[in-house]
Amino acid sequence: MSSPTDAHVPVINYDAGGYDYRSFWQGRDYEQWAEARVIRRTLRRTAPVQWMVDLGGGFGRNVPHELQRAQHVVLVDYSWTNLTNAENTLLADPRNAGRVFLIRGNIYHLPFRDAAFEMGATIRVLHHLAATQDALQEMGRVIGEHWLLDVPIKHHLLARMKAVVKGGGQKLRSREANELGTKDEPFWNYHLGAIRDTVRQQGWNDVLVASVANFRRWERAVPRPLRAPVRPLVYGVERVAQPMGRGWWGPAQFLWLTKRQPQQFAAPAASPSSTPPAPWDALASRMWCPACHADLAWTDEVATCSGCGKIFNRKGMIWDFVTE
Ligand SMILES: C[S@@+](CC[C@H](N)C(=O)[O-])C[C@H]1O[C@@H](n2cnc3c(N)ncnc32)[C@H](O)[C@@H]1O
Ligand SMILES: [Zn+2]
Repeated sequence: MSSPTDAHVPVINYDAGGYDYRSFWQGRDYEQWAEARVIRRTLRRTAPVQWMVDLGGGFGRNVPHELQRAQHVVLVDYSWTNLTNAENTLLADPRNAGRVFLIRGNIYHLPFRDAAFEMGATIRVLHHLAATQDALQEMGRVIGEHWLLDVPIKHHLLARMKAVVKGGGQKLRSREANELGTKDEPFWNYHLGAIRDTVRQQGWNDVLVASVANFRRWERAVPRPLRAPVRPLVYGVERVAQPMGRGWWGPAQFLWLTKRQPQQFAAPAASPSSTPPAPWDALASRMWCPACHADLAWTDEVATCSGCGKIFNRKGMIWDFVTE
């Protein structure tokens, strides 16, 4: 059995040109606050869980919120820079030892068994996933019950206002994804209804929980001397807009998905032929080869696939499960 997606769907390279995604977040306190508010409130919809996965988790910006609700958080990302930053910050905190795990992986071919996690989150990632349906299928495969999915929509208020002036309203209404960015770094915005239909067809019930960061980059539109007095107003209206603007206002719409037939993780009958040392021994039984889905044989430094023979290495506290 293999993942449905062709192995060669391009993956965005966040490490190109020495880029450090942390710089994106400088001066974005409002967006950070708006998102954190929704994540914390939404994850409280369910009882605390043992295992959670943050898919495309970057440098672990949201992991502190996730640790409020999960005993173990596995951060999966393709970018070495982001993972190394996560290692240097999250894992430098001794309270996170044995609770935070860092995996370099590709969302299209995850190294986890079915329903390995009770809960998952995918935040600010979907716009990068060209083979959207396959990516949703593969992410949903590894989550047993609950999933917080951030959908970047194309028909948000600002886009529709721009379309009134510049035209292009029809494009915003269609169900096709809108391709933006450059040829080398394309990204996509979606029709919310199309994504909701896809996840429903893939076995999820969905609730639209919030419209998030409804005033993205508001500081740019307000002269510097007015920003301090306007700030409380923006934060106040954001609180109201999060529920009120669902489906139409903000560019990021958060879905809370629950599997129609929740799955509990079942450890394999024949457990892996060996286990790595702590802390990874806790995670190892939930993993398999991302290429062929066979068991892995672990040592301190490598995991070897018993099916295709691929070898996966550990670098510091990061295991590399990207197959190239
Ligand atoms: C905009 S960042 C968001 C990071 C994090 N979720 C956050 O909200 O701070 C997008 C992340 O998705 C990761 N990513 C994109 N495509 C991926 C893929 N196919 N597999 C794994 N990670 C991917 C990138 O490396 C990057 O860290
Ligand atoms: Zn294999």
